[in-house]
Amino acid sequence: MVKRAGGALLLSVAIDHASPRPVTTQLYLALREMMLAGGIAAGERLPATRTLARELGLSRTTVIEAFDRLTAEGLIEPRVGAGTYVSRALNAERPRPAPAPTAAPMRPAPRLARTMTIAVERFGERARLPQVARAFTTALPAFDAFPMAQWARLAARHWRSHRADIMGYGDPYGLPALRRAIAAHLRQNRGIECDAEQVFVVAGAQQAFNLVGSLLLDPGDPVWFENPGAIGARNSLIASGADLVPVPVDAQGLRVDEAEARCPRFRLAFVTPSHQQPLGMTMSLERRFALLKAAERARAWIIEDDYDGEFHFGGAPLPTLKSIDATGLVIYVGTFSKSLFPSLRLGYLVAPPALVDTLRSVAGKLLHGVPTAVQAAVAEFIDEGHFAAHVRRMRRIYAERHDALCAAAARRLGGLLDVVQSHSGLHTVGHLDRALPELAVSKAALVRDITVSPLARYAIAPLDLNGLALGFGGITPPEIDDGVAVLAEVLEDLRRRPSRAAGVR
Ligand SMILES: Cc1ncc(COP(=O)(O)O)c(C=O)c1O
Repeated sequence: MVKRAGGALLLSVAIDHASPRPVTTQLYLALREMMLAGGIAAGERLPATRTLARELGLSRTTVIEAFDRLTAEGLIEPRVGAGTYVSRALNAERPRPAPAPTAAPMRPAPRLARTMTIAVERFGERARLPQVARAFTTALPAFDAFPMAQWARLAARHWRSHRADIMGYGDPYGLPALRRAIAAHLRQNRGIECDAEQVFVVAGAQQAFNLVGSLLLDPGDPVWFENPGAIGARNSLIASGADLVPVPVDAQGLRVDEAEARCPRFRLAFVTPSHQQPLGMTMSLERRFALLKAAERARAWIIEDDYDGEFHFGGAPLPTLKSIDATGLVIYVGTFSKSLFPSLRLGYLVAPPALVDTLRSVAGKLLHGVPTAVQAAVAEFIDEGHFAAHVRRMRRIYAERHDALCAAAARRLGGLLDVVQSHSGLHTVGHLDRALPELAVSKAALVRDITVSPLARYAIAPLDLNGLALGFGGITPPEIDDGVAVLAEVLEDLRRRPSRAAGVR
């Protein structure tokens, strides 16, 4: 009979000889569970393997194997000549199962959770970003026109590179070849003179906003923000503690005069000069200079988000803010989410010289890079001219899709939705007849599998607008036509039955 303390428990080990699970494993698991549950106390001596084997009717080898596994995990300690003991480490305080949540939390939620809850209450929840385009999803490029075969060949080649080149931790600032390729692309296509040292590769523009926000802002710092404006950037800046100052936009972009009147001592401004998100206008040159002057006076930083600036198809494009910046205060943010595709999660920022060292030190500690083989493939895609060719081709395709939307809207949506002609990008907006509230329209459209985003979703302060953001980049002209036909039915139906529209909040 086993005499030691815990002996009764040991004898309660039930071995099922009919089970497909090996007997050794059954014994190991049973002993392990007893020790972890405190059934055999830390420091207690276990019976000898021979005794235990006899009492349990098992072979001694089986018991020795189970003990070996427990020893390897540090749960028991064999002591030469003195037997085997339950490890004293099991005395350590063990985590208790979390109590079931009650209505009132025991302590306040952490700062970031609180901040984001407040942001959601004020500005509404952000819908999940789309994975598949349909009429009229925003944010997605034309997957159908992407040169997948060429990309796949190039990507496969890089995944076959030397393992040491692609499998370890990469440069936290980005693959040098990609930083050089981006600098050259910006020089040739966006008029930006920068060297590769100023380029930091990140996991999408969103990570650039997070990084810049947490690097430059103290809690409560005032940040000029376009109203309406970009949802992702808004969330990042709020998370970094920004006190967003809503600045109206007009046909020339951000109202710098209004912003200065409201808050002359701002710390940061966030703008989308090439294609205002969501309204689509281009910031005039006059406003760009006014913004630079205001930033210089306040010694404030500016984030220029050039998310789809490559796709300019109407009129002459204006120079980027970064390219005319003599103040050294503009942080330029770019992304491959529109020019290639969003699941790459590849973006970059161009730091002004004064920020390069700080960014190097912070990025080196906080970021561990983006997949090296993917960066290498994109660098080669740019260096070999495929990127420039793709962008040129997509510019034509987006112009066609834009025109298809405007033409279909002119045919079918007159008096219901006034679609604005855009000069660039993958989306535009439409202004609704006042009798058709935007939220009611978006809900009714969703029932017919049409996605249209109410402009209020982009607002950080009340807007005197009633309209929808309409993506056209991800769908073909026939799909655009069909989508407009369905949208026309939705709008006509709502107009015929105004009580439906009035009921939606
Ligand atoms: C205004 C704006 N900036 C940037 C991005 C791109 O973000 P990311 O590079 O993280 O995909 C988007 C995506 O829709 C956007 O709307």
